[in-house]
Amino acid sequence: MTIPSIASRSLIASKIQTDALLLPMYEDAQVRSHPDCGQDIRKQLKSVLASGDFSGRHGQTFLLPVHASRPDRILLVGLGKKNEVTAERLRQAGAKAMQALAQLKIASLAVAGAVLNELPGSPEETETPTFYLLEGALLRRYRYRKQTTSDPEDSENRCSLKSVVILGERVPTDARLLSVVIEANYLVRDLVLTPANHLSPSDLARAAKNAVGPDIRIRVLNRKAIAREGMGAFLGVAQGSHAEPKLIVMEYRGAGNGAPVAVVGKAITFDSGGISLKPSEGMEKMKYDMAGGAAVIGLMQALSRLKLKCNVVGIVPATENLPGGRALRPGDVVTSLSGKTIEIISTDAEGRLIVADAMTYARRHFSPAAIIDIATLTGACSIALGQEAIAMMGNDSRLMQRLQRAGAATYERVWEMPLYDELREHLKSDVADIKNAGGRKGSLVAAGYFLREFAADTPWVHLDIAGTAWIDREKPYFAKGATGIGVRLLLDFFRQENAGKQDTKTKRT
Ligand code: BES
Ligand code: MN
Ligand code: ZN
Repeated sequence: MTIPSIASRSLIASKIQTDALLLPMYEDAQVRSHPDCGQDIRKQLKSVLASGDFSGRHGQTFLLPVHASRPDRILLVGLGKKNEVTAERLRQAGAKAMQALAQLKIASLAVAGAVLNELPGSPEETETPTFYLLEGALLRRYRYRKQTTSDPEDSENRCSLKSVVILGERVPTDARLLSVVIEANYLVRDLVLTPANHLSPSDLARAAKNAVGPDIRIRVLNRKAIAREGMGAFLGVAQGSHAEPKLIVMEYRGAGNGAPVAVVGKAITFDSGGISLKPSEGMEKMKYDMAGGAAVIGLMQALSRLKLKCNVVGIVPATENLPGGRALRPGDVVTSLSGKTIEIISTDAEGRLIVADAMTYARRHFSPAAIIDIATLTGACSIALGQEAIAMMGNDSRLMQRLQRAGAATYERVWEMPLYDELREHLKSDVADIKNAGGRKGSLVAAGYFLREFAADTPWVHLDIAGTAWIDREKPYFAKGATGIGVRLLLDFFRQENAGKQDTKTKRT
């Protein structure tokens, strides 16, 4: 889905020609604090507030009809009490505003956010209040293009918005960053929602090539090359499907020759479970088993658009997991790229097999300073944390702390789970170095432990997004379905790094 253009202009609200003006309002400190509105608008506000129709309660919206003057319409959105406003509450309010706007056919929107500059803001929240308000609005705006033959209007309705103008602010909102973030999130959701018969591993590789800028070096290994490389675990998963597996390698060097951070994303374009077949109920959702890989592609797009000063290599092992005639069987033993042999207990524990080989590939070819993997790895992840948090495990507490910070800043929250040494017992095999599944108990952390064996001495963090990449209950700014989780988190992680390197960069207050 395409994003609207986003730009800042130093204009006051009463001067702008726009289909709608978005006017955020606190529940307290009302009209006085709207310096960017002219006399006429302020007068109207006063009478609406006096009428009691609108109080500025968090998430409340009210459409002011404007007659024979500019702008055409004014949408008030309530932010609640001023001292209770946070970045997340701003996103939520923005989403409410977008829901109200979606019912109108508007092509242009202006936002009068000068009043919001007065917010204190917590240390992780480095952007302006208008940024978060619009972030929530634009995340809410997303719609997947349905493949229906009737009612083509439906999926286009919310897309009528073509341009957003941010009116004069003391500290200007980073409109460029906002559009890069939204574009990447939309890309991930488009990919995740695309049915598996329209998104094979080859399609995903093509999508990656189209998505990233020219300063990203992209290589794609096919089945033969993957075999030549010696990725026996990855190949094992792929052998049950006719679809050609792909290893997508995207290299971004924004900081010269230093060791990169490798980001590995699981991309099972469809997970049937293989011979350890999943129950049919809900199996249609398993097209989202490539959400980690999609997040990595979105991240690479965003890094190249922003030209961040960091080195990142994105690695996406992509394949289907199907029970074809040549499929892996329980009891089989495969030799991973690391040389470790793996006994297959369940062909449904396929994610860790392809991620493990991709991690070893990263270590062999890039000697990364750190590895972050992101994967829809276990059903137990959503049992433990529901759709509220990403499960995080790792061998490096500093790295995990930084992801924690990025999680707080973006509200793509992470929650650390323990990797006790005792978990080794879960994965002890009688016939191979390790087995790929250890039963139901502790399966979230056992999966993490399995991957740790392949990280070896490289600083590494594992992010399980099985509970958060797809939601069954809507959230304030996410409809049911794909959330595109991971891109905003990882981008914030690398922007923190970037800010650390550029001392000259003035920090927003
Ligand atoms: N892709 C699934 C995990 C998953 C389940 C993601 C539900 C999203 C929703 C993964 O490949 C899988 O099947 N994991 C198994 C592992 C088990 C066999 C050890 C699981 O969690 O049941
Ligand atoms: Mn599986
Ligand atoms: Zn899977």
